[in-house]
Amino acid sequence: MNAIDDKDFGTPARESATLVTLEIDGVAVTVPAGTSVMRASAEAGINVPKLCATDSLEAFGSCRVCLVEIEGRKGYPASCTTPVEPGMKVRTQTPKLADIRRGMVELYISDHPLDCLTCPTNGNCELQDVAGLVGLREVRYKKGENHLELKKDESNPYFTYDPSKCIVCNRCVRACEETQGTFALTIDGRGFDSRVAAGQNEAFMESECVSCGACVQACPTATLTEKSVIRIGVAEHSVVTTCAYCGVGCGFKAEMKGSEVVRMVPWKDGSANHGHSCVKGRFAWGYATHKDRITKPMIRKQISDPWQEVSWDEAIAYAAGEFRRIQQKFGRDSIGGITSSRCTNEETYLVQKLVRAAFGNNNVDTCARVCHSPTGYGLKQTLGESAGTQTFDSVMQADVIMIIGANPAAAHPVFASQMKRRLRQGAKLIVVDPRTTEMVQGAHYRADYHLKLKPGTNVAVIDALAHVIVTEGLLKEDFIAERCDLKSFGDWKAFVSRPENSPEAMADVTGVPADVLRGAARLYASGGNAAIYYGLGVTEHAQGSTMVMGIANLAMATGNVGRLGVGVNPLRGQNNVQGSCDMGSFPHELPGYRHVSDSTVRAEFEAHWGVSLNAEPGLRIPNMFEASLDGSFRGLYVQGEDIVQSDPNTQHVADALMAMECLVVQDIFLNETAKYAHVFLPGSSFLEKDGTFTNAERRISRVRKVMPPKAGYADWEVTQLLANALGYPMNYGHPSEIMAEIAALTPTFRGVSYEKIDRQGSVQWPCNEQAPDGTPIMHVEQFVRGKGRFMITKYVATDEKVTQRFPLILTTGRILSQYNVGARTRRTENVHWHSEDRLEIHPHDAEERGIREGDWVGIESRSGQTVLRATITENVQPGVVYTTFHFPESGANVITTDNSDWATNCPEYKVTAVQVMPVTQPSEWQKNYQRFNRQQLELARTEESGA
Ligand code: SF4
Ligand code: SF4
Ligand code: SF4
Ligand code: FES
Repeated sequence: MNAIDDKDFGTPARESATLVTLEIDGVAVTVPAGTSVMRASAEAGINVPKLCATDSLEAFGSCRVCLVEIEGRKGYPASCTTPVEPGMKVRTQTPKLADIRRGMVELYISDHPLDCLTCPTNGNCELQDVAGLVGLREVRYKKGENHLELKKDESNPYFTYDPSKCIVCNRCVRACEETQGTFALTIDGRGFDSRVAAGQNEAFMESECVSCGACVQACPTATLTEKSVIRIGVAEHSVVTTCAYCGVGCGFKAEMKGSEVVRMVPWKDGSANHGHSCVKGRFAWGYATHKDRITKPMIRKQISDPWQEVSWDEAIAYAAGEFRRIQQKFGRDSIGGITSSRCTNEETYLVQKLVRAAFGNNNVDTCARVCHSPTGYGLKQTLGESAGTQTFDSVMQADVIMIIGANPAAAHPVFASQMKRRLRQGAKLIVVDPRTTEMVQGAHYRADYHLKLKPGTNVAVIDALAHVIVTEGLLKEDFIAERCDLKSFGDWKAFVSRPENSPEAMADVTGVPADVLRGAARLYASGGNAAIYYGLGVTEHAQGSTMVMGIANLAMATGNVGRLGVGVNPLRGQNNVQGSCDMGSFPHELPGYRHVSDSTVRAEFEAHWGVSLNAEPGLRIPNMFEASLDGSFRGLYVQGEDIVQSDPNTQHVADALMAMECLVVQDIFLNETAKYAHVFLPGSSFLEKDGTFTNAERRISRVRKVMPPKAGYADWEVTQLLANALGYPMNYGHPSEIMAEIAALTPTFRGVSYEKIDRQGSVQWPCNEQAPDGTPIMHVEQFVRGKGRFMITKYVATDEKVTQRFPLILTTGRILSQYNVGARTRRTENVHWHSEDRLEIHPHDAEERGIREGDWVGIESRSGQTVLRATITENVQPGVVYTTFHFPESGANVITTDNSDWATNCPEYKVTAVQVMPVTQPSEWQKNYQRFNRQQLELARTEESGA
C-alpha cells in the first residue's frame, strides 16, 4: 500500500528528449515519449482507476480497471500499457467506461471478504478506494466460489500474508523481481485457483524471501500487511528521515500515530533508495523502544561498584570533574574522545570540537579507524579526495562491475538490488572475494569472473591485473596523458610490468589461476564503462591502504574515473561513517580532511572557536589503548561506539579500559564498552533527534525527530552540556546552527544548509561556490588534487602466517539480518534469521577434523580462543574459515590480532591464522565473559530497583 500522501502515477517515469503532446479529457498534456497514457493522465491531475499498476513497477495490464477510450481505436485499451502518441485524444470518463470498470471491480469484490470496518488497512486500501471511485454500490455474485477460507501465513515476524484478500494483481511478484531482485514469489495455479506463493508453496520464512518489504509495499490490498499496522492501526502523519543502519542511507517516511512509529515506509523520492528498503531499515526499528534502553544517567567510582542513577546535572558534573582532575594529574593529553559513525554529522562535529577545544588536545578518533581509514588515505594520495566518486545511480550506466572484498547483498542490500538490476540488463561482473557470496551468482546473473583469492593477497591481485593491462596495451593513453601525473605513471608502469607481477608469477601467491585473472583484466579494461565497488575486504588488511591505491591506479590507467558508470566506490559500512570522517574525527585532521599542522586552517578554527589549537596529531584508538596500559592516558569519552565488541583483540581492549580512571560511555544500551564505564550518559536513537547523515555517495540527508528523546536530551545536547561543564561554552539551539558552523569552516560544505537539504531532498558534497547544488560525480574535468597520482603498490605478505599450529585463515564479514555489533538488530525480530554467529568451514577441512554440521568448535589464534557452532559449506575454500561478529558472546574479536594497516592502523580483521577443533564446552574467555556480563547486568539492576 502506498505511504500516506505519496501520489502514485501508475507507471514509472520515462526519460526522453522527445516530448509528446496529446489530449486527455480535453486537456493538452505534454510528456516524454514512452510515457503511458495512465501516467500522462496522472501528471495532468486526471486519475484513472487502477489496481495492478503502480509507478514503481513496469505495467502488467491484468486488472482491466484502467481502460480508456482513444479516438480512432477500437475497444478499450488499458491506459497503463498504452504509450502516448502525438495528437492522441483520450477519454478517461464515459458512461461505458464507468460500467466496465464497475463490473471489473464487482468481480474482485465478490471474492473479497467484506470486512472493511475491521480490516487493518481500512482507510489505506487501494481496492477500497477504487470501489469508491467506480461507484460500486452492490455486489451481485456473493454466493459463488471464493477464497475466503484460505489460511493466513503468519510465519514472517514482520508481515502477514492473507490469501483471502488477494486479487492476484501480481504487484508483489513483480516487486520481488524488479525492485528487490530475489524472485521469491510466483503466481501458483491457474485461472480462479491462482494465488501468490512464496517459493515452492512454502511459508514465507522457509522461502528465499529476505523480508525486504517490497511486496508488502506494492500490495494494493491488506493481503500483505505489516504486523505493526495490524497491531497499531493506520498512521496519522508521516515524517521523512534517513535509515540509521548502513551506508546506503535510504530515505524513509516514518509513519506515526502520535509519537509512536506505525511503520517505516521507504521514501519514493529518496535519491539513494528510490522507494526500496531492506529488512533492517524497513522493519528492524523496534530496538528504539526496547525495554533495555537506559534512560537515566548513572555513575560509579569503580567498575565493581553498583551503578547509581543520578540527575543529568550530577552525571555531567562528575564526568567533567573527573576529566579535569585527570588532566591536572596526568597532563592535558591524558584524556580523549571517540566519535560515533551512528550519530549525526552535527553530533560528531561537536565531539571532535569538545576534544580539540575543551580537552585541548587532538586525541579524537572514530570507528572508521577499524573500517575505512585506508580509503581516506589511499584515495587522498591518488585522486585527492577521501571519498567515493559516484552516485549509486551511476551503476545503471556501468558495463562492467567489479566488486572487490564486499558483499553488498548482505551489507548494502538496497544498492545490491540496484546492482543486480543492472546485471540483469546485461552488465558484466567480476567478483574478487575469497568466498562465494550471493554476489557471485544469483537470480538471473552470474559473475563472468570470480577471482577466489587467498585472504591477504589483494595487492598481488591488483598488481597482476595492472600487469595485464599495461603489458597487453590496454591502457587509456589519452586519459593518462591529459589527466594524470606522468612521472608517477611512468614509475608505476615500469613497476607493474615487472615479470614478478604477472598473473602467472602471482598465481601461487593469490590462488587465482592466471587465465582467470587475465580474462578479468581484459574485461575491466576494455568492456566499456567499468566501475569498482569495494568494501572492508579491501581495507581491513595489513596492506589496506596499498590496495585502495592499487584500485585507484587501475581506474586511472583505464580512464574509468570522472563520468557516469565508472569510478572508485568504497561501500561504507555504517550510516554515517562518511560523515564522521568528514567532520574531523581523525586525530590528525580538522573537518574537511585538513591537517592539524596547517597553521592557516588552524587559525580559522581558532578564530571561530576562541581557543588555540594543538598542531600535533593526537592519539589513534590503538594508541589510546597502549597509552592507557602504560599509564599516560586515563580518561575517555565514547559516544555511540562499542569498542569492546568491535575492535580487535578484545582482551587487550578490555585491559586498556580497565586501566582508565574515568570512562564515560554515551549510548542507548548498556553495551559491552559500558560494562567498563564509570559514567553512563543515556543516548538518543535516530528517531529522537534532528541532524544529518552522509552516506557512501557523499549524500547529506536529513534525520528528523519523530519522538522526544527518551532520556530527555539528544546526543548533541549531552556533548554540549559536557563542554559547558568543562568551562568551554557551547550554546547551539538546534543542529541547523551546528551545520551552519560546519559550512562556514569547511570548504567542501560551504554551500550546505538545512534549507538546501530540505529543498533538494539531499545534497552531495562538495557543495560550495563552484558546485552550489552539490557534486554527484567527482573528478569530472580534473582530479581534486590536480593530476591523478599513480602510487607504487608492492605486494608484501602479511606477518599473519599460517603454520602447523594455526593452519587455517579466518576471515570475517556480515550477514543481512544483523548489523555490526548487533546491539540494535539483536533486539528485534531479526534474530529469527540469525540468532548466533557461526563458523563456516569447507567440507574437506571439517572432515579432516571430525567436525559435523552444527558441532561446537574451538577456534584458536595467537590472540585468543573462542567457541562457535560450525556450518559446513563450500562457500569458503579449503584452508579458509569465516564468521560474523554480531554477538558479543561469540567473541569473534577475541581471536583477531593487533596486526594493522601500515598507513592507518586499520586492523587486519580479514586475516587471522587459526586452528579449529571440535570441543564440548565454551572457551575460557567465554566463561569469563559470561561471569563478567552477569555481574555487570546485576550491578546495573541493583540501583535501578533501589532508586
Ligand atoms: S519481502 Fe522482499 S524478498 Fe520477500 S517476497 Fe517480498 S519482495 Fe520478495
Ligand atoms: S498479494 Fe497483494 S500484490 Fe500480491 S497479487 Fe495479491 S493482492 Fe496483488
Ligand atoms: S540498505 Fe541500508 S540504509 Fe537502506 S534500509 Fe537497509 S540498512 Fe537501511
Ligand atoms: S491498472 Fe492497468 S490493467 Fe491494471
